[in-house]
Amino acid sequence: MSAPHIAAERLGADYFQDPYSVHARLRAQRPVTRVIMPGGTPVWMITGYTEARAALADPRLSKRWPGWHPEPDSIIATMDLHMLNTDPPDHGRLRRLVNKAFTARQVERLRPRITAITAGLLDDMSAGPDRPEVDLLASFAFPLPITVICELLGVPPADRDDFRVWSATIVADTPAPEVFQAHATAMARYFMALLAAKRQQPRDDMLSALLAARDDEDRLSENELVSMAFLLLVAGHETTVNLIASGMLALLLNPAELARLRADPALTGGAVEELLRYVNPVSNATFRFAAEPLELGGARIALGDPVLVSLSGANRDPARFGHPDGLDVGRDSSGHLAFGHGIHYCLGAPLARLEAGIAISGLLARFGSISLAVPAASLRWRPSTLIHGLEALPVRLAP
Ligand code: HEM
Repeated sequence: MSAPHIAAERLGADYFQDPYSVHARLRAQRPVTRVIMPGGTPVWMITGYTEARAALADPRLSKRWPGWHPEPDSIIATMDLHMLNTDPPDHGRLRRLVNKAFTARQVERLRPRITAITAGLLDDMSAGPDRPEVDLLASFAFPLPITVICELLGVPPADRDDFRVWSATIVADTPAPEVFQAHATAMARYFMALLAAKRQQPRDDMLSALLAARDDEDRLSENELVSMAFLLLVAGHETTVNLIASGMLALLLNPAELARLRADPALTGGAVEELLRYVNPVSNATFRFAAEPLELGGARIALGDPVLVSLSGANRDPARFGHPDGLDVGRDSSGHLAFGHGIHYCLGAPLARLEAGIAISGLLARFGSISLAVPAASLRWRPSTLIHGLEALPVRLAP
């Protein structure tokens, strides 16, 4: 690996609890710099907005690590061939298979169903005087997006507690290798069994449509099919849950902004954009690798070097957003990188925006009083380089 003249800083586990101050410090030194992640991986971390946006659109940064090929029949090989891990032309072929189902217009048709699921969850949280305190993450922010994506794909929502555990391990930074292997294997086997059942009995859902594309038209391989199911399920719920939960936390910690939003629900659309910029459900983009030597933000990146684009670093860059560490639900947050940029720009962005808008406005309309049930300093964030999400969000709700 290159650039021995730059001493790489080793990030500790405290990075996950407060990535923002680390990014601010790194950005002030250099917008592209060497760090060693808490899990031990040395990377080039990009924390400047201009450099991050340029990197996300740079075809010299590949999603494949040059020279790396997983064991053909391994679990990694089974789940690795999804659009977020592929370059053109495979990337475009895979994305086109599902693109239409996720356009803003198509997703808007889900509004009544998302509203109904939200209302059901709000009813459950309101039920009974004996529930003064709830974990908003487990009771609301998690079940909403997972139910929606399960219904779209045709995955039984009853199995969601299993995926929650498997998927949390897969996106975590430092799972024990045997736990990673066990949970990744469980998830792959789960999808293989589900797809086998749908082959026998196709339904009106996305996985059945993908099976037809595989079996009747040969537009993707068996591993690409399992990988697609895995990506859509994980991307569909590991992220939106954190926009809803961390977004609500941000509002609770900024009561004047919360009051503004309560007073003017027309601000909701803009507020969701500002919450995306501010809370960064995906803290760092997935790894990219230099397919050739390149220079970026003054750094010389060697062939094969891993690059980590910090979306939360970019979204808090004072050169792009004034007072970046302040929440302002009325500001113009357009241009934020919370959904990435370039060919891998989030496929599910319209769905995530719709879900978060319905969830947050529904919660505020139902509960006139929402307050943290524990001191903010005691809240813990999950140990993941990719995802920035709370372990739990205990709140008190009252009409
Ligand atoms: C607040 C919620 C969400 C956030 C913040 C988010 C963020 C992102 C980001 C940053 C990327 C690009 C990663 C990279 O370039 O390394 C991405 C890609 C992707 N997201 Fe989302 N996402 C969200 C919700 C969803 C939902 C609901 C789905 C639905 C299935 C979804 C599906 C995808 C897919 C399939 C990709 C890969 C696109 C490609 O490679 O072309 N996401 N997302």
